[in-house]
Amino acid sequence: MLTSKSATNTHKLNRAHARRCVATAGASQKRTAKAHAVASAQAAAASVASTLAASLAVAGPALAADGDAGSAVGSVVGVLALAAGAGVFFSAADPEKRREEMTAAAGGDEMASVKTYFETEGASRWKKIYGDDEEEVNKVQLDIRMGHAQTVDKIVNWLDSDGLDGRTVADCGCGTGLLSIPLSLKGANVSASDISGPLVEEARSRASAAGAKSATFEVSDLESVDGKFNTVTCVDVMIHYPQNKVDAMIEHLASMSEEKLIVSFAPNTPYYSVLKRIGELAPGPSKATRAYLHKEEDVRAALKRAGFRVTRDEMTATNFYFSRLLEAERA
Ligand SMILES: C[S@@+](CC[C@H](N)C(=O)[O-])C[C@H]1O[C@@H](n2cnc3c(N)ncnc32)[C@H](O)[C@@H]1O
Repeated sequence: MLTSKSATNTHKLNRAHARRCVATAGASQKRTAKAHAVASAQAAAASVASTLAASLAVAGPALAADGDAGSAVGSVVGVLALAAGAGVFFSAADPEKRREEMTAAAGGDEMASVKTYFETEGASRWKKIYGDDEEEVNKVQLDIRMGHAQTVDKIVNWLDSDGLDGRTVADCGCGTGLLSIPLSLKGANVSASDISGPLVEEARSRASAAGAKSATFEVSDLESVDGKFNTVTCVDVMIHYPQNKVDAMIEHLASMSEEKLIVSFAPNTPYYSVLKRIGELAPGPSKATRAYLHKEEDVRAALKRAGFRVTRDEMTATNFYFSRLLEAERA
């Protein structure tokens, strides 16, 4: 039995112990909360950075629209600040080296490596980005979806204003058919093709659901497509290839076009080069290694060599999507 003195002492001791426990628990909770906050911030930064990298990789193309360039810078600065605050480690691997490694993994064949990506993880990623469910995509992907929709609208408006009824269009690298389908619905006869079997399947099923009866879809790399068409389109594909390959692609696409050739690419400007480099600094096997920016004068020169002159140009720049669009006509 405790005496009142010992009970008082015990009570004091218990109170002191309780205070220590509360203090310890508080400190521990604070440490846990801090660790949790750092871990969350790290995860968020890594996720944003890798999404940014992926989007820069494949989103592709354009000259920055004045206002939008500012917000893109803001986004990138935000990512860097978040990453720095969380102490995220960005591996600054040489993108050229990583590009070579990815190509080597596909037996040294760059096109095979692109095909592998778009038949596996790229297929599901781009089906979602090019879908219409807002819950399936994150904010960056939603931004890319909106930016890409602007590019498609611009092309459809150009061609529609010149008359689409009965015109033949080859949409090379058609993806899920986001351009082929509206062109078909407006009366064009569309021969669409893509290097990726799963994306061609998706395009077929979307075309059928939309009632786009005058569009056909086949699996083919664009340099193996043949035929003659009023218009040839190749949208957001060139970002996957270096300039010498793009030169060959433009030459082939031009040989199939009797009138118009429409291409888009990610412009190689100092601003976009920095943006892309930041994307490439994200940790992990970044998709950004597959992205090539192209100098507009190089693309224009390739069009000129192929006998085409640029008749319209546009650009689309959202926070994460950059696409320079050129329409050229046989000179
Ligand atoms: C970013 S997506 C753009 C899809 C479509 N042009 C659009 O704008 O909705 C790039 C597409 O290019 C395709 N692609 C990549 N390399 C290709 C090649 N050599 N020949 C044909 N398609 C290719 C990919 O499979 C993918 O569907």
